Amino acid sequence: MFRLSTCCGIKSYGTPSLNSFKRPRRYESTALHFYQNKQLELYASREPKPMTLRQLVFYGRSMDEERLVKSANYVRTELPVRIAHRLRDLQKLPYIVVTQEGIAKVYELYWSAFEKFRKYPPITNIKENEAFCEFLGGLLDEHATVIPNLSLGMTLSSPYLPPDDLDSFMRRMLVSRISRRVLAQHHIALSEIYAGKHQHWDSSDPTVGIIATGLNVKASIEKCANLLRNQSLEIENSDGNSEAPVEVVVEGDVEMRFSYIREHLEYIVFELLKNSMRATRSKHAGSATLPPITATIAAGDNAVGMRISDQGGGLLTLQSQVQNPSDLFSFSHIRNGARMEHSRLLSLRTASSYSRGVWATVNEQVESWKRSSDPEKEAGVGKHTRMGIGLPMSNIFATYFGGSLELKSLDGYGTDAYVRLPKLGTNLEAVNF
Ligand code: COI
Repeated sequence: MFRLSTCCGIKSYGTPSLNSFKRPRRYESTALHFYQNKQLELYASREPKPMTLRQLVFYGRSMDEERLVKSANYVRTELPVRIAHRLRDLQKLPYIVVTQEGIAKVYELYWSAFEKFRKYPPITNIKENEAFCEFLGGLLDEHATVIPNLSLGMTLSSPYLPPDDLDSFMRRMLVSRISRRVLAQHHIALSEIYAGKHQHWDSSDPTVGIIATGLNVKASIEKCANLLRNQSLEIENSDGNSEAPVEVVVEGDVEMRFSYIREHLEYIVFELLKNSMRATRSKHAGSATLPPITATIAAGDNAVGMRISDQGGGLLTLQSQVQNPSDLFSFSHIRNGARMEHSRLLSLRTASSYSRGVWATVNEQVESWKRSSDPEKEAGVGKHTRMGIGLPMSNIFATYFGGSLELKSLDGYGTDAYVRLPKLGTNLEAVNF
């Protein structure tokens, strides 16, 4: 549990130099309502009501006005409870953390959303639901920059927080955020399907709301590999490494299909393949042909497994920055020395004002990179500098419904990333903390 503390009495964890990272402004006049709590206490005293993927699918399968209105009111009453818990978490941070760039911005966004939800009247019919969906869509857009802002603020706070506290705080914030966006997006998608804006049933890609009920794992891997190979060549080339294409060979249970949120699976696959391609190009710089990446799919009884293996030299090269592969998921500079790199902080700052968020879809991610090249140049950052969000976010996406992500390094040779995603849809969202 964090202490509510002033900076005077605070312990410092490691002493990286932050002097060179000049802050354009601080949110020192952090919202006046920061400690005004009556309503917040009320909502935070309620437990979230988590869903399983299966419940989301079953409920969404047959929609009528009554069910849609019920879904709208669930979202209307559930989201402020989930936000209230995170606002309480933010309030418990030491004051010095609250004053770091980005944190007050996140707090203000959450406070404002909390107030709007709290005051939103019950939805009683389709017309009102349409207005509610517009309201939700507006909030989803408004919150697009939460993750870069939060990551920037918490990275800057790393010297003031024990690594376990920092990482568990970030985990709660990020899982909760994913969960809220899932509920909001799922409800909007169900409403659009009901209104006939989207085809309800496409036999090659069946969906219920935002859940793909026959998600083809091989096709998703190939889609991500193609996107990375074709659309982001410019990104990889800017490293000055080999420009030869890295092939991705998909093997194992290639017919595997399951119910899952496509965006989550593809976010993870995209990030892992991106890292593997980057490492392979770097390790074999100058070679005309590069060793392929192998993606193996395994259909277990309860879970879908994926192993992504590269020959990019393993994680040895990162050893000065991390002690264990899992430290790559950490936001603390004590666990992951790269967190405090000046270029990363600048990239986070750029993303916190320009990005469409931490990117709903793989396609949007590629688009986002393209869009972000100019602002980054302006900010004097090398194009496509890494922000270090991809691996921690992949880990959070994998664990949201009880799956896992593990990295294993064969130092000097390559890295294996193991992903396990539950197949039956019976796990609850991991939001009760
Ligand atoms: C978020 O994106 O952080 C949210 O909480 C979204 C929600 C307000 C719809």
